[in-house]
Amino acid sequence: MAPSPIIRLSKVSKSFKDVQAIKDLSFTVSKGEIVGLLGPNGAGKTTVVRLINGVIAADAGTVEIFGQSPLAESNSIRSRTGVLTESAGLYGHMTAKENLAFFARIYGVQDYPSRIDMLLQEFGLAEYKDRKAETFSTGMRKRLGIAKALIHRPDVLFLDEPTTGLDPEASRDLLGYIKELNARDGVTIVLATHLLRQVQELCHRFLFLHRGQLIESGTLRQLEDKYLKSFQVKVESDLKVEGPSYRGFPLQQVEPGVLIFTVETKSQVPELLRQILSEASVYSAEILGRDLETLYFNVRGNFRG
Ligand SMILES: Nc1ncnc2c1ncn2[C@@H]1O[C@H](COP(=O)(O)OP(=O)(O)O)[C@@H](O)[C@H]1O
Ligand SMILES: [Mg+2]
Repeated sequence: MAPSPIIRLSKVSKSFKDVQAIKDLSFTVSKGEIVGLLGPNGAGKTTVVRLINGVIAADAGTVEIFGQSPLAESNSIRSRTGVLTESAGLYGHMTAKENLAFFARIYGVQDYPSRIDMLLQEFGLAEYKDRKAETFSTGMRKRLGIAKALIHRPDVLFLDEPTTGLDPEASRDLLGYIKELNARDGVTIVLATHLLRQVQELCHRFLFLHRGQLIESGTLRQLEDKYLKSFQVKVESDLKVEGPSYRGFPLQQVEPGVLIFTVETKSQVPELLRQILSEASVYSAEILGRDLETLYFNVRGNFRG
């Protein structure tokens, strides 16, 4: 049985003056998922996060989290959700520790001194605990922002562009931590970003937003099945071939020892490799063009809206 959704948007629209930020948007998020809310700047990602968190109201449609309206039940919902906004929402004049203590008291976290120590440790901020947040680097602010979002042990965590301003190493560390949080504590995660490459491995499922509309959704596998009509397989091999095909598979020789074959379905890949291996060595084999970014451009190309 599929787990029941904990977030549900149904035909939601939202305008700001003359800008329609969200248009007839419907989707669900189930417990334990890591869902990527993807799309270019201005697609509506932040607006969706704000709608689910009851910061703004929808003009039409319904938004539910834990079966409740985020507007009507904002306090009980806030006790179960954490949000990292783009600005991280910290007080610059307070130290790291003071920031966490401030939010812990708001949420009524009983064991907060030990909880704060644990989070500062976990996010590599223990030695900076008495430094003011305004002196922090972007990476430190993001980490403190997540620590703050987690202080009350939320069931659902919203991360809006969590890696903006971080270098590749800091981004990787942060995304690794998010993965662990989900795997270890079962925290449901909604991650809004325009950086597709970063989240390809992390997210279980993707929602593609374009001008406030959901243009596609699915797992990487589902998107692959739907959008990849043929596969290019890059093979490093000492196979000797001549002509434009090999045993019925169209082929290009891109450089000595590197061949690109076209197959119709993924199930033809082992067949192709068995053929090659029967007469030559294979040093590597890789399916090209199945990354999230390429799939996204296929989705965009297909969409007429
Ligand atoms: N408070 C606001 N006032 C006016 N326009 C807004 C406001 N918030 C968002 N918008 C507009 O709504 C659209 C979606 O914005 P946003 O949700 O921030 O996109 P994203 O987070 O995907 O970059 C944009 O055109 C943006 O300019
Ligand atoms: Mg945004």
